[in-house]
Amino acid sequence: MDLKLAGQSVIVTGAASNIGRAIALGFAAEGAKITIADLDETLANQVAQTASDRGAAEVQVVKTDVTDAAAVADMVATAGQFGGIHAVVNAVGWDQLMFFTDTTPDFWQKIIKINYMSVLNLTHALLPGMIDQGEGSFVCISSDASRQGEPREAVYGGTKAAVNAFMKTIAKENGRFGIRCNLVCPGVTLPDPEEAVSDNSMWAKRDAMFTEEQLVKVANAMPLKKIGKPQDIANAAVFLSSRAAAGHITGQVLSVSGGYSMAG
Ligand SMILES: NC(=O)c1ccc[n+]([C@@H]2O[C@H](COP(=O)([O-])OP(=O)(O)OC[C@H]3O[C@@H](n4cnc5c(N)ncnc54)[C@H](O)[C@@H]3O)[C@@H](O)[C@H]2O)c1
Repeated sequence: MDLKLAGQSVIVTGAASNIGRAIALGFAAEGAKITIADLDETLANQVAQTASDRGAAEVQVVKTDVTDAAAVADMVATAGQFGGIHAVVNAVGWDQLMFFTDTTPDFWQKIIKINYMSVLNLTHALLPGMIDQGEGSFVCISSDASRQGEPREAVYGGTKAAVNAFMKTIAKENGRFGIRCNLVCPGVTLPDPEEAVSDNSMWAKRDAMFTEEQLVKVANAMPLKKIGKPQDIANAAVFLSSRAAAGHITGQVLSVSGGYSMAG
C-alpha cells in the first residue's frame, strides 16, 4: 500500500536511538522529509545519514531539548523549512526502573518533564500551523505501562496515561481541522544489538533495566513469546502517520507488545 508520505514534512523526536531511530528510518523508506529532534546531535547525525541513504527526500537534525518550550518552538520553525508539517512522532521518553518507595521528588519531576511536558511543548508549538493547513497527525509513543500498571514504573506509567488522555482530548478538540492523534504502546523493546544508543537513552545501561534472565521471563509472559523490536513500533507509528492509510483513525491507543495488553 502506498502510504503517500513521499515528500511530506515530518518530525521525529528522540530519533537518535532505538524506537525513534527506527521510526525515522521508516519515514525515510517512504521518501519523507524528516526533521530529527534529539539531545544527542552526534548519533542523530548518523541516523540522518542512514535515512538519506535509505531514501529520505531531505533530512535535518535540530539539536533540541524537548522539555524546553522555547527550544521546541525554534525546532518547529526550522522543521517548517521543509514545508507544512504533516506528522510528528513523539518518541522521546525516559524511565529508570524502581519501586515507588525508592523514588524521589526530583526523579518524579524529571520523568514528568521528559515524558509529559515534552508532548505539551510539541503539541502547543505545532497545532496552530496544522489547524491553518487543515491537516496533521500526532503519534505519541506511550507504553503498555499506561494501560495496566507495571511494577517499578509507577510514575512513568502515570505520565504515559496522562499522554494518552491528553492526546485523546486534542483529537476531540481538533478533529474538525483534519488533525488526528494516536498512541502506540510498546512493551519491552530492546535496541538492535548492532546499533549505538545515546548516553541519554534509558538503555545506555541496559543491565540496569533488565538482566538476561529477566528478559527471558518477560518474553515468556507475552502471548507471542518474544521481545519487541524497534521496527515493530516503527511500522505502527508510520502507518498511523499516513493520512492515506489511517485517515479515519484518531484517538486510538494501539499496543504493539506481543499481546501483553489486550484492551477491549
Ligand atoms: N524501549 C522500550 O522497552 C519501551 C517500552 C515502552 C514504551 N517505550 C517508549 O518508547 C519511546 C522510545 O523508547 P526508546 O527505548 O527508544 O528510548 P531511548 O531511551 O532508547 O531513546 C530516547 C531518545 O530520546 C533522546 N532524549 C532523551 N531526553 C531528551 C530530551 N529531553 N530532549 C530530546 N531528546 C531526548 C535520547 O537522546 C534518545 O536518543 C519512549 O517514549 C519510551 O517511553 C519504550
